[in-house]
Amino acid sequence: MVNILITGVAGFIGSNYVHQVLVKNRGTQIIGLDKLTYAGNIENLTSIINEDDFIFIKGDICDRKLLEKIFHKYEINQIINFAAESHVDRSIHDPQVFLKTNILGTQTLLEVAKTHWSIDTSWKTGCKFLQISTDEVYGSLGAEGKFNENTPLDPHSPYSASKAAADLIVQAYHDTYGIPMNITRCSNNFGPYQFPEKLIPLIIHNALHHKKLPIYGDGRQIRDWIYVLDHCDAIDIVLRNGISGNIYNIGGNNELENIQLVKEIISILNELTEDSSICNNLIEHVTDRPGHDRRYAIDSSKIESDLKWQRRFIFSDVLRTTIQWYMDNPVWIDNVITGEYQKFYEQNYGNR
Ligand code: NAD
Ligand code: DAU
Repeated sequence: MVNILITGVAGFIGSNYVHQVLVKNRGTQIIGLDKLTYAGNIENLTSIINEDDFIFIKGDICDRKLLEKIFHKYEINQIINFAAESHVDRSIHDPQVFLKTNILGTQTLLEVAKTHWSIDTSWKTGCKFLQISTDEVYGSLGAEGKFNENTPLDPHSPYSASKAAADLIVQAYHDTYGIPMNITRCSNNFGPYQFPEKLIPLIIHNALHHKKLPIYGDGRQIRDWIYVLDHCDAIDIVLRNGISGNIYNIGGNNELENIQLVKEIISILNELTEDSSICNNLIEHVTDRPGHDRRYAIDSSKIESDLKWQRRFIFSDVLRTTIQWYMDNPVWIDNVITGEYQKFYEQNYGNR
């Protein structure tokens, strides 16, 4: 029996992942842990919160006592660590919580896993720690080339520095104690349930409200966009088949300038809403993000050749379905922005 602890389960990627695993129904017992910060929403889990093979616990990955209890009670044998402070702009304004959750939280999870999984000099069969990391740890590229797993770490924001530090701690627990682990480093995700501070949902939300669309600097920065369920497929494959100690890069092979992407979103919205006032005039160039990385591009050939991962989704199709999802769920957006779902959790599940 696999008893898997999924941290950050109520966030964007964690909630998409857990829906996908439960749909596949692999007889996995899932323990979902989340602090329910502004970015974590119980509503993202409504359709599964009462399923027998899913248990939700509100809590902090820095809380060692709580983790000990969870490991003991549920005999956890695998961890996927999605929990993090994830937004670059917030890390520029207030770095400390990034260091606490992303670095110390990861180390606390590793320490508890080490205590429960190591037997004399060997490790419990089937145990694994999977750290969900990011391509931002590699820093910024010039016009040519892509990040591969051997690209040196060169983070520029407090967020990416904290993620790079967490990766190094995971590697240190592997090299020093032998903990079975993998690290995945993915490019920019998009899809349903993404907090509307990130570029794609922010632009959709603002455009639907005829608000200005802020573009940092010249807008010619490049990101490699991947649909969240392609990322989730890759995570699942690494969890099952990744060779312990290995890092796997995951990308969309889909580089776009921010300005190009925003114009594409406007044009799809224009068509879907038949509202001609949603137009390029809403774009407003604003002061650039300090330390802004210019270009990310990912070489995914290792995971493609070693683990046979392939993307399933076509960008233009899933960009359209993502836009449609935000149009169909205005209440979700309003409630995550106002923090209504946090209040809902306390009222309905707070005494669990
Ligand atoms: P998110 O901000 O949507 O979700 C993070 C979740 O972690 C939230 O539910 C939040 O409540 C929870 N959390 C925060 N601090 C916690 C703590 N101390 N204890 C327990 N839970 C806590 O982020 P996301 O976009 O879903 O990202 C998930 C992971 O994937 C992160 O580690 C991020 O670095 C990584 N990642 C994200 C992307 C992307 O494009 N979004 C790309 C590559 C990697
Ligand atoms: O590359 C993976 C990373 O992608 C993840 O590790 C992070 O958790 C995730 O937040 C994301 O980071 P970015 O900084 O790339 O994402 P964001 O959506 O904040 O910004 C995408 C690009 O758009 C970036 O170049 C900054 C720009 N931008 C963003 C916002 C919010 C704007 O021009 N205007 C905006 O209002």
